[in-house]
Amino acid sequence: MTTFPADFTFGAATASYQIEGAATQDGKVPSIWDTFAHTPGAIADGSTGDVACDHYHRMESDLDLLADLGVDAYRFSIAWPRIQAGPGAGVNQAGIDFYSRLVDGLLARGIKPAVTLYHWDLPQWAADLGGWLNRDTAQRFAEYAGLVAAHLGDRVSEWMTINEPWCAAFLGYGNGEHAPGHKSMREAIHAAHFLNLAHGLGVQALRAELPASARCGVVWNLSMLYPATDDPVDEAACQAARALSNDLFTEPVLRGRYDPATVQAAARFTQFDYVGAGDLAIIHQPIDFVGLNYYMTWHLRANGDNPADAQFLGGDGPKTAMGWNVDPQGLTDLLVDVHARYPEMDLVVSENGSAWDDVVSPDGQVHDTARTDYLQRHLAAVADALGKGVPVKGYYAWSLLDNFEWSWGYTKRFGLYRTDYDTQARTLKDSGRWFQQFLATRTL
Ligand code: FCB
Repeated sequence: MTTFPADFTFGAATASYQIEGAATQDGKVPSIWDTFAHTPGAIADGSTGDVACDHYHRMESDLDLLADLGVDAYRFSIAWPRIQAGPGAGVNQAGIDFYSRLVDGLLARGIKPAVTLYHWDLPQWAADLGGWLNRDTAQRFAEYAGLVAAHLGDRVSEWMTINEPWCAAFLGYGNGEHAPGHKSMREAIHAAHFLNLAHGLGVQALRAELPASARCGVVWNLSMLYPATDDPVDEAACQAARALSNDLFTEPVLRGRYDPATVQAAARFTQFDYVGAGDLAIIHQPIDFVGLNYYMTWHLRANGDNPADAQFLGGDGPKTAMGWNVDPQGLTDLLVDVHARYPEMDLVVSENGSAWDDVVSPDGQVHDTARTDYLQRHLAAVADALGKGVPVKGYYAWSLLDNFEWSWGYTKRFGLYRTDYDTQARTLKDSGRWFQQFLATRTL
């Protein structure tokens, strides 16, 4: 039996565009995800986030769902396009009021708010000015961060700047799967730098507004990579892939540099000529924790001489509805690895969960044993890391409820609660009931 420490934070997570809907209400301007989702062919089921889970109108009852689960904390994101209608615009009062009510509703229920400032819904006006290829976007992000902190900083103590900059850069600008849908590796690595810069400037802006006790961090989806065979060329391919997908973010933020291996792995795409003289010092702000989103692992096989051409193979074992392998050991390994490299950092599992082809049984319930199993085994993996001395401080289940899964639309369900998109009814799945019972004892 393992009992988690009393001060360990358990929560659930969501993101604004995936749940809110109310796409044009109360002064919200379009984001790149509004534009992208309305582009024919971009989303698997042709859907958009226009309505999503209608959370904007159901916020209070959704907070009751969180309270019923018994979580300590709720990780949600703020939609920048609800806050600023254009470059340099003052705060949109109706937009910030929504989040202020959300924060108050959480505190009234004894739930700690954990705010993500950027979960991919860049205002379209910022994209029209060049988006993440424009240095100025990082500055604009910092202005926005400061505005939000000035309004919520008296009640929110946990702040995360950017969610998964790898996805924003490599899926948004590299392979075009995410908004804004560009397809250029050069642009992806360029965007990564300005996302890093936005993080650094954002932390500075947050610290300027927040009390000293506030905790600021970033959220990464670091790739957990294993060589497919014992052949040293596969290990070399892993090292190159780590340099390009992980160290591109961790080293500037935590060490104030781009590692030579990263520069080398990126050399055929970019020369980093957009990196300004003072950028790395700005990016390298002291932070209080690193959030890690974990879902799966990869196994790499070298392909020719250039490690950047490696084949990414899924791991063994069962696959979720996303086709992602279930590998709890990968989560322990990731936490241990990150701790070994950056021992000064507190770590938080800021997302973890699984999509399955849920079925509503004749009894009206969702008997999602595979999701329960995934959750339980990954919590055990976190406990293992704690047992190895890794300072893991929290775990957030992805997701509170089924929602708009980006380019997969509504075809993939990750929720602890089922969302019926016709009626907007929410039903606690068996996995949610299991989590609820677990939270009552915190013992596995
Ligand atoms: C992560 C995202 C989150 C959700 C999960 C399944 O990459 O941060 O919004 O889509 O994957």
